[in-house]
Amino acid sequence: MPVLDPGTVLCALSDIPDGQAKGIEGGQGERKVKFLVARRGDQAFGYFNACPHVGVPLDWGDDRFMSLDGQHLQCGTHGALFRVEDGFCVSGPCQGRRLRPLAVSVDADGQVVAD
Ligand code: FES
Repeated sequence: MPVLDPGTVLCALSDIPDGQAKGIEGGQGERKVKFLVARRGDQAFGYFNACPHVGVPLDWGDDRFMSLDGQHLQCGTHGALFRVEDGFCVSGPCQGRRLRPLAVSVDADGQVVAD
């Protein structure tokens, strides 16, 4: 069973500045799950907001997800760097592991929805 029902709207793509990411909470009932959606132009990439190192959220709760150079998602705790496109960790204590993906797409109305 998917964590989110297919078609669940996460946000509008325009809510995310290009090159940035946004934290989202979702899930069923009392079991809320943290996600993030990163934007590259007209594409959106979804992940569970949990670092594969020790499982904490990547950001500090303020939607700051990106490295200073804007090239990678960065864990705020120990600085691991992840590729936006596939969540692969290129640097840090969990190098070689990946963020858990959340399949998303952008619909015709510009909404980011769960697949
Ligand atoms: S918790 Fe993310 S790098 Fe350690």
